Amino acid sequence: FHLDIDATETDKGAYPFYMLKEIDEQPVVIRHLISRYLPKDGQPQIGEGIVKDMRAADRIYIVAAGTSYHAGLVGARLFERWSGIPTEVHVSSEFAYEQPLLSEKPFFIFLSQSGETADSREVLQNINAQGFKSLTLTNVEKSTLWREATYALPLIAGPEIAVASTKAYVAQITVEAILAYALADREQLDVDLEQELSKIAIAIQGIIDDKEQIQAVAEEMLVPAHHAFYIGRGVDSAVVLEAALKLKEISYVQTEGFAAGELKHGTLALIEEDTPVIAMMTQPRLAGLVRGNLAETQARGAKTYTIVTQAVAKPEDDLVLPDINELLTPLVSVVPTQLLAYYTSLGRGLDVDHPRNLAKSVTVQ
Ligand code: AGP
Repeated sequence: FHLDIDATETDKGAYPFYMLKEIDEQPVVIRHLISRYLPKDGQPQIGEGIVKDMRAADRIYIVAAGTSYHAGLVGARLFERWSGIPTEVHVSSEFAYEQPLLSEKPFFIFLSQSGETADSREVLQNINAQGFKSLTLTNVEKSTLWREATYALPLIAGPEIAVASTKAYVAQITVEAILAYALADREQLDVDLEQELSKIAIAIQGIIDDKEQIQAVAEEMLVPAHHAFYIGRGVDSAVVLEAALKLKEISYVQTEGFAAGELKHGTLALIEEDTPVIAMMTQPRLAGLVRGNLAETQARGAKTYTIVTQAVAKPEDDLVLPDINELLTPLVSVVPTQLLAYYTSLGRGLDVDHPRNLAKSVTVQ
């Protein structure tokens, strides 16, 4: 394939905003990660120290903020289901001041695009003081979280300039998948990760090539909206949190990402005529339930949009994605939500790369 986007350059070239360039770079980033971490016939290369120490752990604690926290929610499922290691995910700013009861042999993973997030650095200092081992996944080599952790692995996503994180989120989940794969009993697992990731890069490219369709939906459904909801179940309930953060942080549309089953426990009261509700259904086992939750919102006048995978698709669905390994679908399903956020911000005439009140790296607590 022709690498017509160099994921390392920092000039946005013909792009109106860095965010769109960084969304477009995601297939290339995944291919870079395949060659870096799965170089020889798909065997993971992540260093035996990391594998040894993670294998020795009885529980993994993922600590992160914002979008990186959302990447951790996906990673936790990969570590539990692929590697069989109990895993929990914590928001840095909470963990720093309310450390949960830890297991006997904890292992910590810090996810951070910048490697400088003060909330996460605070936790790493506490963890180091307690003598626990840690691994940082970051896009900035030699950053504080890189230097102060026991181990560090680069996201090699190239500089991410837009405040709204996109390719770093995809890179974090990809590296978490490679880690979980390295720790798994690959005979049992029956996943060819290199092949899956190559399929994913092509699927992402397909969405990027069809971005005008997403732009039309953003302009019709979200630009005029005051608030919006993303709903999903299982791993989609983690992706809808990221989808909501993307939309609200650059378009200022008040958006909630919700476990679909929770709607009827209160939030359904907010649904009224024309409230936008976007349902993500990539898990065959759960899609029927989400359709039921979505129907409840439609009965109250919601304007709905569905993002589904082929296996669960029905004729009335709006965006159909190719079938991907069930735990890796976030790498593909997040892309339309990144584009929905981008085009909603653009449609509102906002500075997509520099949303009000926000900084690219939050180095204060
Ligand atoms: C995501 O779009 C935001 N820019 C923000 O939530 C970010 O993910 C968070 O501040 C964590 O930053 P880090 O990954 O550099 O630690």
